[in-house]
Amino acid sequence: MGHTLGAVELREMVRTAIAYGKTRSIPLAPSVMTIPASNYVDPWRFEVEVERIFKRLPLMLAPSAEIPRPGDYKAMEVAGVPVLITRGQDGVVRTFLNACSHRGANLTTEPTGNAKRFVCPYHGWTFDQQGALRGVASAEEFGEVDKDCYSLRTLPTTERSGLIWVVLDRNSTVDFDTFLSGYDALLERFGFKDWHFQSSRVIKGPNWKVAYDGYLDYYHIPVLHRETFGPDMLNQAIYSAFGPHQRVQFPLREYSELEATPEDAWTDETLLSGVWTIFPHISIASFGGGGRGVMISQLLPGATVGESLTTQMYLMQTPPEGPEIKAAEEQFAFLRRVVEDEDYTTGLALQKALKAGALDKVTFGRNESGAQRFHGWVDKVIATDDADLNALFAG
Ligand SMILES: [Fe+2]
Repeated sequence: MGHTLGAVELREMVRTAIAYGKTRSIPLAPSVMTIPASNYVDPWRFEVEVERIFKRLPLMLAPSAEIPRPGDYKAMEVAGVPVLITRGQDGVVRTFLNACSHRGANLTTEPTGNAKRFVCPYHGWTFDQQGALRGVASAEEFGEVDKDCYSLRTLPTTERSGLIWVVLDRNSTVDFDTFLSGYDALLERFGFKDWHFQSSRVIKGPNWKVAYDGYLDYYHIPVLHRETFGPDMLNQAIYSAFGPHQRVQFPLREYSELEATPEDAWTDETLLSGVWTIFPHISIASFGGGGRGVMISQLLPGATVGESLTTQMYLMQTPPEGPEIKAAEEQFAFLRRVVEDEDYTTGLALQKALKAGALDKVTFGRNESGAQRFHGWVDKVIATDDADLNALFAG
């Protein structure tokens, strides 16, 4: 069964892309939509988005391939919250607030590593991979503490489809399955849990929504990217929504070979093409340089409304060898250049224009239904109380 995962839905999406390719059209939103330009520049709005979106919803914080072995860990700051993601000797991924229960110091400042125990660099208290306090430095002199009350704080975590989701609110009752809306079953088709984490880099960008709009946007591709990968590409996209998550495809203008191939022989490259976004902050795009790979872009809000940080993570289906290594590295450098020099340079400049009050409203066309849906979900999540979040995602 493993290799047929999601096959019915994925083939249906290819047939849809062929049908639109034949008619040289795309599905259109009912109308043009506008949102207030202040949504991108208002510091108060930004705080609300961080609190109600980033701190309440599951966030894809790491691919499994980044911490594949028992003892592997990843420490990072997410929306101002220090987190420590560990894989125990039992293989289970757990997430803790990266704060010693003595005084709150970060237990590690290394972004990734492998450790059986975490020794606090401040006073030397020791914790195991399950977050339990195992040792108090100079315990007799320190005095009595009930170790069971000094475990690290655990955050809701799930690992599926080779990706790790974490909720920053430790009291959250958001149900992962309801939130993922079946999308993870389609992502499973990539087989990421067996892929190789090749490298990553961080890029500074504009407001997180300016950046995210770009990942959903094919309308700009032949124009903004005319000097790089865009000139021969369509400016049309087909969006398939699973809850708030959207897969983006081109309509397939060249379909005759595909139609002549039995559907059960369609390759994974065909079935998984395009961009897979995960609400609210992930984009996964395939590439072929140096072997089959994906770039996972993870957007996090920056310190202020006008800033974001994007980590580009490059995963390869198999570790590149020999000349593949150079080809893969060239592909990564190219992807970084495209995003940094074209998308984010444009985004940072438009951010300044919006801040200067150049526009009252920002407009999304009927052909930009992906961004329309994205901003609709942003508004809906912000307007929803904690107790009603599962109902919102259950639709
Ligand atoms: Fe772009």
